[in-house]
Amino acid sequence: MWTHRHLLGIEDLAAADIEAVLARAELSYALSRRTEKKSAALRGRTVVNLFFEASTRTRTSFEIAGKRLGADVVNVSSSGSSVSKGETLLDTARNIEAMRTDVMVVRHGSSGAARFLAARLGCSVVNAGDGAHEHPTQALLDAFTIRRRKGRLDGLTVAICGDVAHSRVARSNALLLGKMGAVVRLTGPRTMLPRSARELGPTVTVMPRLEEAVEGADVVMMLRIQQERLGAAMLASTREYAKTFGLGPSMLARAKPDALVLHPGPINRGVELDPGIADGAQSGVLDQVEAGVAVRMSVLELVLEASP
Ligand code: CP
Repeated sequence: MWTHRHLLGIEDLAAADIEAVLARAELSYALSRRTEKKSAALRGRTVVNLFFEASTRTRTSFEIAGKRLGADVVNVSSSGSSVSKGETLLDTARNIEAMRTDVMVVRHGSSGAARFLAARLGCSVVNAGDGAHEHPTQALLDAFTIRRRKGRLDGLTVAICGDVAHSRVARSNALLLGKMGAVVRLTGPRTMLPRSARELGPTVTVMPRLEEAVEGADVVMMLRIQQERLGAAMLASTREYAKTFGLGPSMLARAKPDALVLHPGPINRGVELDPGIADGAQSGVLDQVEAGVAVRMSVLELVLEASP
C-alpha cells in the first residue's frame, strides 16, 4: 500500500510502490484516451507547479494531470515571480502554501531542493527534477512506456547512453529499473560517466563503449547533452560526440531487432539521436509523453490519498 505523502525520489520507493504508481496510471491512461477525459477525484484540491527551470513536458503534463482529475492548477515560474526580486525558495514556497495549496510540484536546479521544501511545508511535495539528482516521475513514465511496449520490466536489458553523470533522468531510471529487476548498462564519454554505479544497484554496470552497451539491448535510452550543466572543456564538439555516442541506424542494429528507443526530451536532433530513429517505428518518444500525463495523475492521487 502506498504511504508516501511526498514523491521526492525513486531512492525512497520500494518495488511495490512503483507497482502501485504504474497500476493506477493504467486507469488514468484509459481515462485520457476517452473523449470525456475528466474525473472528479481531486475536485476542490489545489496543485501549484513551482518551476525554477524551463520545462515543456513535465510542467504541461502536471497541469493537464491535475485538471483531468478536477483539481485547480496554478503555474508559477521563477521568471515573472518575486524570485526575480530576490525572494528565497523557502519564502516563495511558504507564501504559496499559505494560499492553502494541497500539492506543490517543484523543479529546481539544486539537488535536494524538493526534499528541503518537503521538510518545511505542510503540503505534499512532488519532485519534478532537482539538479542532477532525481526526476522520479520521468523514470516512472519511462517504466510505464517500457512495460506497455515490452509487457514487463523484469529481465530486460536497458542501455542508458550519454551524459549520465549530469542526468537526473539516468539516475532515477537506473534506480527504478534495478528495483524492478532489469539489467542496466550506463555508457557515455569518460567525462560524463559516474565513477561508480554501485550506489545505483547491483544490476547496474558502467560500460565505456556505446557499441558494448547497445549490443542485444531490449531498450536503448538516449540522454540529452546537458549543455547548461557542462563545462566547455568536457565536450570537444557536438560533431565528435554524435560520431562516437550518437545513436544512428548502424548502432541501433546492434540492439535486439525490436528494441525500443526512448529519449526524455528535449532531443538534440542529429547529436545524441538520429532524426530518422527519433521519428521511426522503434521510437517510443511520444508514447513517453502520453504516459507522462497518466503517471502524473497517478502520483497526484496517491500522494494526496496518503496525506492526513
Ligand atoms: N523530460 C523532461 O523533463 O522534459 P521537460 O524539461 O520539457 O519537462
